[in-house]
Amino acid sequence: MATKDKAKAETDGKATGGDTLSITDNRTGESYEIEINDGTIRTMDLRQIKVAEHDFGMMGYDPAFLNTASCRSAITYIDGEAGILQHRGIPIEQLCEHSTYLEVAYLLVFDELPTQAQLDRWTYDVIHHTFVHEDIKKMNEGYRHDAHPMGMLLASVGALSTFYPTAKDTEDHEERYMAAIRLIAKVPTLAAFAYRHSMGYPYVYPDNELSYSENFLSMLFKMENTYEPDPRLAKALDVLFILHADHEQNCSTNAVRAVGSSDVDPYSAVAAGVAALYGPLHGGANEAVLRMLRQIESVENIPDFLEGVKNREQKLMGFGHRVYKNYDPRARIIKKHVDEVLEVTGENPLLEIATELEKRALDDDFFTSRKLYPNVDFYSGLIYEALRIPTNMFTVIFAIPRTSGWVAQWLELKDDPEQKIARPRQIYTGKRDQDYVPIAERDGPEKITGPPARRPKLLRRGA
Ligand code: SDX
Repeated sequence: MATKDKAKAETDGKATGGDTLSITDNRTGESYEIEINDGTIRTMDLRQIKVAEHDFGMMGYDPAFLNTASCRSAITYIDGEAGILQHRGIPIEQLCEHSTYLEVAYLLVFDELPTQAQLDRWTYDVIHHTFVHEDIKKMNEGYRHDAHPMGMLLASVGALSTFYPTAKDTEDHEERYMAAIRLIAKVPTLAAFAYRHSMGYPYVYPDNELSYSENFLSMLFKMENTYEPDPRLAKALDVLFILHADHEQNCSTNAVRAVGSSDVDPYSAVAAGVAALYGPLHGGANEAVLRMLRQIESVENIPDFLEGVKNREQKLMGFGHRVYKNYDPRARIIKKHVDEVLEVTGENPLLEIATELEKRALDDDFFTSRKLYPNVDFYSGLIYEALRIPTNMFTVIFAIPRTSGWVAQWLELKDDPEQKIARPRQIYTGKRDQDYVPIAERDGPEKITGPPARRPKLLRRGA
């Protein structure tokens, strides 16, 4: 805590040293010394900076949390400048090389790699909770054939909270474990059911004899009684699952933490993550990249397309990142796997467009000056397409592995003594102390006969 007297005495004319920030409020001439821990200050320490005794005190203002740490976390480390990504301290490159998605999910949740016995038990528990209540199928019947599968997944993940009401006891560690298992186990089934509904195909039930990624491919594509997943494709999908498992405090994880902070059950908190991931600026970008590549159509059209991006007509989807100001390490790994997958499934002309688009963009000062590099979504869609996964399922595929990250982050939130219900403040910019005006005394036409000539425009900032 800052103390004015101490700060004033010690900062008169000489450096105070130590991990503190000396602030002088020029409105009052008062000086404050605020502790610095982990390279941050507690914005609550700003509240004693006042201009009058009954003043609320100073706040920090940080729309979209560009420079705000919302929590302490030990799950994922990212160095955006160096392009480093580590889960529980292990580099993503090593996890993709040596691990499996289920083992990485265990690592995220338990902060250590499992022994063989622990992995066997974890795998057994996940594989034996892949079935969902038959009523989920009735829920799906309410959707049109062209319902977006992310909208269906959003609803069905939230619906899980109605099948497991005891999960509301968020302090019970057995309930927490079972929710973690059920979410990691059932989201692929819900995802596959959404796909099968959209195709008008009968549902395929989980097959406990298959691995996690093989089982998902089987639930997507099995027809009649046989489905032999190509092990190379299943392996590529498993690597993609590892690459999408967690990414520290991204938009959807922030949503899970914010909603989870109200102490709602974990299924509802994870449903909030699904909703946030749906957005094209976040998980929806992989779907948008494929549509962008199809829109470009040929390498010859790339210069005109990039001119349009530079004229702000549209974004170069799959490029840019809030944290990575260098090449997203996940994009580098995915690009390697694209070549391997296409060797199995056959060439895709969109890869040539994507590769040339990346080359041209990285030769262009508009992108490099803004530190815009390919992110995880730029190449992933090419693998999904090679696996015959339809474009509107791409973000659903992202949600499947990110479920383990959301679960791990939710568990960390629950165990963090510093956390409480998330409730940010605001800078109020609206009117004050207005009197209510009876409708008869308001300006405008007395009354309108028939439908209103035009809908009232929503107020636009600065309108
Ligand atoms: C994911 O946070 C995570 O970790 C997310 C994620 C995860 O694993 O959870 O990594 C997954 O969401 C990856 C990002 C997927 N989204 C896209 O590919 C959509 C396209 N990218 C952009 O919308 C954008 O880059 C964001 C949203 C990713 C990041 O936006 P920021 O950090 O808010 O950056 P910004 O919008 O302030 O952009 C800075 C400048 C601006 O130019 P100026 O107005 O300053 O001149 O760069 C421009 C932007 O216009 N810019 C782009 C661009 N991205 C940023 N211009 C063209 N194309 C782009 N893609």
